[in-house]
Amino acid sequence: MSLQEVITYPNPILRKKSEVVEEVNDDLKQLVEDMTETMYASHGIGLAAIQIGVLKRVIVVNVGEGRVVLINPVIDEAEGETRMEEGCLCLPGVMVEVTRHENISVSGLNETGEAVTIHANGLLARALQHEIDHLEGTLIVDKVS
Ligand code: CO
Repeated sequence: MSLQEVITYPNPILRKKSEVVEEVNDDLKQLVEDMTETMYASHGIGLAAIQIGVLKRVIVVNVGEGRVVLINPVIDEAEGETRMEEGCLCLPGVMVEVTRHENISVSGLNETGEAVTIHANGLLARALQHEIDHLEGTLIVDKVS
């Protein structure tokens, strides 16, 4: 495993759209481990691959309920609305109030390449939506209303 540097705003890489992962191979598993180590070392609750400069659709999240890894995540269902202050490892010291869906259903692949569906609410749902936004080049500063 190796700790990676988190890219910070306004680095233009953060605005790029991440690419679909075609194969869950050893390199991808290494990426997931590097992301996990970097997230924990940064005291974050989520990280998208783009935040360490890798333009692949991979996210890791841990809101205190165990690690969730999603490759090529897609939000299938979303309902409700909740508003809360959010930070981002790419924007040190910045807090923005962001409206998110309260409940979501997300599908994708886990770190072993199996198809999974996660039903999430509360903080986990928020963190997943935040990280999935990164895959589209969207940051919390775009969410100011
Ligand atoms: Co972020």
